[in-house]
Amino acid sequence: MQALTQRTWSHDSSCHIGDLAWQRLMHVGREDEWSTRLWEVDGEVRAWGWSQAPGDLQLYVDPAHPELADEVLVHFGPKTVTTLDRATHVLDALRRNGYVRSDGPYLAYLTRALTGLPEPMLPKGFTVRSVTADDLVHRVAVHQAAWPATRVNEQSYRAVTAAWPYRAGLDWVVVAPDGSFAASCLVWFDEANGVGLLEPVGTDARFRRLGLGRSVCLAALRALRAEGAREAVVYPVAGDSRHPAALPLYEALGFAPYARSVDYLR
Ligand SMILES: CC(C)(COP(=O)(O)OP(=O)(O)OC[C@H]1O[C@@H](n2cnc3c(N)ncnc32)[C@H](O)[C@@H]1OP(=O)(O)O)[C@@H](O)C(=O)NCCC(=O)NCCS
Repeated sequence: MQALTQRTWSHDSSCHIGDLAWQRLMHVGREDEWSTRLWEVDGEVRAWGWSQAPGDLQLYVDPAHPELADEVLVHFGPKTVTTLDRATHVLDALRRNGYVRSDGPYLAYLTRALTGLPEPMLPKGFTVRSVTADDLVHRVAVHQAAWPATRVNEQSYRAVTAAWPYRAGLDWVVVAPDGSFAASCLVWFDEANGVGLLEPVGTDARFRRLGLGRSVCLAALRALRAEGAREAVVYPVAGDSRHPAALPLYEALGFAPYARSVDYLR
């Protein structure tokens, strides 16, 4: 899945190699709930479909082989499909197969060139740094403090850190004066395309609106630039009042929209 996604990545892609590492490993024991299938020719993966719940489908198809989108749809026969508004070869197949667009909350796909990155500015007593293997317990705790309902735990995060292309040097935290972690930003670097994905970013609910989310992102983006990346992308939820902060955070960091996710129903 990652090989296809990296080989064909562009601003028309619904997914980045980091999405796959994070989404497939962030929870333990989900594989039995999923159905995944690859379409391969001469050892080269040209399409994949991934259903995380009955009736739902996420698909990724090499734009050079658009006809495979029909095969993926016919194989899974989903009710709901999520893709990108710029993935025209997938949208054409959805319409050919009788799917219609449905409106609701969506993911805004944002980009920022890694130029003109300001220095992080932290409140007194807070520091920012990348993690080491010894930080696992605190690293998971700060993730859980930002997403109280999460199923991310130490076992799953250990699997995330073992997955390609995770780099501890791109996994950043803000450390509070008492030594606990207050905010975090994990960046996934696709070296072949020069682009990093921020996923996930969170601030412990006790420390919000202090500039920690902004600072941890800036520190991680500066590290990403030092690794040789040219661009960062991020996909916050938009149009959903339950998630008021994410889109404004990235807009304030200079990210601009280039695409959005779209849902199609049959
Ligand atoms: C999104 C999140 C990381 C922001 O963290 P934070 O540390 O509170 O953010 P900052 O204090 O650095 O805010 C920086 C800027 O983002 C914007 N912003 C942050 N929270 C906001 C909110 N609730 N409403 C509107 N704008 C907001 C503002 O422009 C803010 O600058 P300002 O305070 O000078 O106005 C935090 O709210 C969070 O963890 N939410 C839950 C998880 C999540 O949604 N993560 C992002 C998706 S991956």
